[in-house]
Amino acid sequence: MANKDQTDTDRMEKIVSLCKRKGFIFQSAEIYGGLNGCWDYGSLGAEVKRNLKDLWWRKNVQERDDILGLDGSILTHQAVLTASGHVGGFSDPMCDCLLTKARLRADQIEPQSGIAYHFTGASHEESGWFVDRDYSVLLNQPNQDENKARKTAREFYAQFLTDKQIPAKKLTLLGESTSEEKEVTHYNPENGSLLTEPRDFELMFKTQMGASADDHDPNATAYLRPETAQSIFVQYKNVMDSNRVKLPFGIAQIGKAFRNEINPRNFTFRSREFEQMEIEYFCRPEDGLRLTDEWLAKRLSFYDEIGLQKEKLHVLDIPDGERAHYSQKTYDIEYDFPFGQQELEGVAYRGDYDLGKHQEHSGKPLEYFDEQTKERFIPHVVEPSAGCDRTILALICEAFYEEDLTKEGGKQDIRTVMRFKPAIAPIKAAILPLLKNKPELVEKAREVKNLLQPFMNVFYDETAAIGRRYRRQDEVGTPFCIAIDFETMGLEEGKEDLKDTVTIRHRDSMKQERIAISDLLPWLLERIH
Ligand code: GAP
Repeated sequence: MANKDQTDTDRMEKIVSLCKRKGFIFQSAEIYGGLNGCWDYGSLGAEVKRNLKDLWWRKNVQERDDILGLDGSILTHQAVLTASGHVGGFSDPMCDCLLTKARLRADQIEPQSGIAYHFTGASHEESGWFVDRDYSVLLNQPNQDENKARKTAREFYAQFLTDKQIPAKKLTLLGESTSEEKEVTHYNPENGSLLTEPRDFELMFKTQMGASADDHDPNATAYLRPETAQSIFVQYKNVMDSNRVKLPFGIAQIGKAFRNEINPRNFTFRSREFEQMEIEYFCRPEDGLRLTDEWLAKRLSFYDEIGLQKEKLHVLDIPDGERAHYSQKTYDIEYDFPFGQQELEGVAYRGDYDLGKHQEHSGKPLEYFDEQTKERFIPHVVEPSAGCDRTILALICEAFYEEDLTKEGGKQDIRTVMRFKPAIAPIKAAILPLLKNKPELVEKAREVKNLLQPFMNVFYDETAAIGRRYRRQDEVGTPFCIAIDFETMGLEEGKEDLKDTVTIRHRDSMKQERIAISDLLPWLLERIH
C-alpha cells in the first residue's frame, strides 16, 4: 500500500467478521450492547496471543543474557505516575459538538473557512417558550444554502424545549448575524455546529484502594497503569541489585495497560484495555544513539520472522519538535493495515529522563556505579515498546487471503485461508479420520492425536467430508492437516507398504505427502517453531 491514507474497508469488514465467526476476537460484553474499546479473545485468538507473547519473550528474554523479565502490578501508586509526568500531563484536549455531543480531539480538527451564522436564541410563539443562548453554525462550502445553517440552529435550540411535541422547524430564530471565518477550528467539520472550548481529558483510569478509601485521602488513589514501562523504571534498582547485572542490560515486560481513549476505533487497534510488550534497555550515555538504531533493526527482523511483509512495514524517523522533549531519537514502526498506515511500535531513546525523575521524586538514589571507571551516573534508556494487540491485528490482516479456485464453467469457489506462520497459527495440526463410521480409522486417528497433543495445540475433527474439513482448517490458519485413511490401516490392496503412514495436506500449497506416523512428531516440531 503506497499511500499512507489508502484504506480497504471491505477487506477490514471481512476480517472483523471472520474473527467473530471463527472465535478469534469478540467484543467485550456483546450481549449487553458491548463495552466500547474492550475486546475478548476467543479460543483461537487466545492461542495466537499466547504464541506471539511466548515468541517475543523467548527472543527477548530467554535467548539473551542481558535482558531480565518483570511482571509488575497493574495498580500503580500515584506517586509513580506523578513523577513520570502522567498525573496532570497524560491528557488530550477535547471539545464536544453542541448539537450531537460527539467528542473530538481539539488538536486534530482541520482548520476550516466559510461564513458563520450566529444566533442569540430561539422562541416558539404559540406556546410562549423561548431560550436565550448564543449559538453558531459554519457553512464551509461556497454557495451553500443558508437555510442549512438555520435548520442546524433550530435542531440545536430544540434540545432545550420542555414540550418535546413541538417540532424544531416551528421555532423562530433570534438575533441572526453573519461573519466571515478563516482557518478556524471551533466548528464540527461533520455538521458545522459550534464546539465547546477545548478541555483536558484525563486518559488514565483512576481508582480508590482499600475498604476505607475515601475521595479525600490522597494515599487511597491508585491508577490502572497507562504503560508497562513505569514499573520497570521503578524496579530497575531492585532488578539490578538482585541479579548483579552490569550495563548494558534490559528489563522486559509483557502486560496490560489502560487508557481511557476518547475514540477507540479500528477494531482492536485503539482500545481502552490493551497489552504492551516493552523493553527498557539501560546503557551508558555514549551508547544510547547506537543502541537505538540496533534495536530498530532487531525489532524489524522480529516482525519479519513472525510473518509481516517487509514492504508493509515503514519506519518513521520522528523529526525534532515532534518527539518528546527528553528524546534525542524516536522511530515509529508503522504497518499497512487495511484502514491505513498506522503505528505498531515505537523505539525511543529516552536518555536519563525516567530514572532521573524517579530519583528526584522518590529521593532514593538510582545511580549506577561503574566498578571499572569508578563513575556514578544515571543510566540512559532505549525503549522498544510494542503493542501486543496491534501486532496480533497486523498478523491477522496479513494472514487473510481469499483465493478464487473456481474451475472453468463451475460454481464459484472462494477459498478463505489464514496464512499464519506455523509458529503463530492457533492450531498446528488437524487430525482427520477419513470416515467417522469406521472404528479402526477413528481409533488410529485418536492415537495420532494423543501422540501429538502433549507437544502442540492440535484439533480432532471427524465431521463432514474431508474436503470441507480441510477448508475449515484453512479458514483458521492450520498449517498441516493429517488424514488417517485406509492406507494408514494397510487395507489398500497393493499399497500395504503405506501401513502406518498418514497424508499430510499443506495449507498454502494444498499439496499432499505421506509420512510415517513414527516420523510425524519430529517432522512437525521442526516446522512449527
Ligand atoms: N512506554 C511507551 C509507550 O507506552 P506508546 O507509543 O504510547 O509508548 C506503545 O505505546 C505501543 O503501545 C504503541 O506503539 C501501540 O502499539 C500500543 N498502544 C498504545 N496505545 C494503544 C491503544 N489505545 N490500543 C492498543 N494499543 C496501543
